[in-house]
Amino acid sequence: MNQSNLAIQQFSQLSDDECQTRIEAAKAQLGERLLILGHHYQREEVFRHADMAGDSLKLSRAAAASKAEYIVFCGVHFMAEVADILTRPDQIAILPDLAAGCAMADMANLAKVERAWRELSAVINPDESVTPVTYINSAADLKSFCGEHGGIVCTSTNARHVLEWAFERREKVLFFPDQHLGRNTGFKMDIPLEQMVVWDFDQPQGGLTVEQIKNARMILWKGFCSVHQMFKPDHIDAFRAKYPDGKVISHPEASFEVCQKSDFVGSTEYIIRTINESADGTRWLVGTELNLVKRLAEQNRARGTHAHFMSPTICMCSTMFRVDPQHLLWVLESLVAGKVVNQVKVPEQVAQQARLALQRMLDLNI
Ligand code: 13P
Ligand code: SF4
Repeated sequence: MNQSNLAIQQFSQLSDDECQTRIEAAKAQLGERLLILGHHYQREEVFRHADMAGDSLKLSRAAAASKAEYIVFCGVHFMAEVADILTRPDQIAILPDLAAGCAMADMANLAKVERAWRELSAVINPDESVTPVTYINSAADLKSFCGEHGGIVCTSTNARHVLEWAFERREKVLFFPDQHLGRNTGFKMDIPLEQMVVWDFDQPQGGLTVEQIKNARMILWKGFCSVHQMFKPDHIDAFRAKYPDGKVISHPEASFEVCQKSDFVGSTEYIIRTINESADGTRWLVGTELNLVKRLAEQNRARGTHAHFMSPTICMCSTMFRVDPQHLLWVLESLVAGKVVNQVKVPEQVAQQARLALQRMLDLNI
């Protein structure tokens, strides 16, 4: 067992309350050398320590603008990678628990995407006719692949503008890893469902015929988020039957059927803004991660506005949940002691092209 494993074991014995006061003390000692970024899906005991809260786009911008020496990202692995890519080489990105990945991001990897590109080459010339677009929920080497092949990164906030950018350059888009964000956004842009085909990465030629590939405008990777896939059209029907005046809002990682039945569809920041700005006494059914929905319910309760979680079963993002006060305290007290633990560092040869794909997105200024 190495030294850092020994250390985290000692911290894991501490109660949440003990962690709270020590986290505040460590933050005070590190002062402006430290920036803690917190994604909205983080649990409350961690979220309250964030200097800035946001969705993945807002936090990417915050990382890029930060001058802090240490950026502790309370979120998942790809977010800390983005922070590392967009900051100066002397700034250090830290993820409190390195096992906090994103199960959807892991559904695409470089070997499979390169194979898809090769297999597409047998039918069309992808470097002339396909823009690769990766959701920010993806590993750095996939962002690098997009940078290298004239492609771009998107988030759930800017997916439409990014797709417009992509279609201005080439006639088709290969969209990975989330088929739902791709389909929901493409459909809003009037792309017919039959021109959005699913690339099954476990099948030769994605399980598609030559004709399907030639006719497709969007080739959607067969990835999904298991949290957002829990929401079903039946949940919306049951809510509407009980609360006919209620409104339904969903994240575009939810299925096409759920998004079609929703009154509003948008990113995490959009969901927060829409509910917080809604009239007093409004009732909402919300199709996104549980920690965020609980926070929205709490924040709006006093004005009689209700936010209900869409699924009857509890489903939070288990990887986001890995970042707990114990891990946060461990990384902060290690910094106070002059030791960096859990740094996320993207090799420069990968970071270069990944930065290009990210920069193309940031330049759209959405
Ligand atoms: P946002 O871009 O809305 O933060 O979404 C990130 C994410 O992982 C949602 O599941
Ligand atoms: Fe990934 Fe889904 Fe968790 Fe978002 S909610 S980080 S997409 S697993």
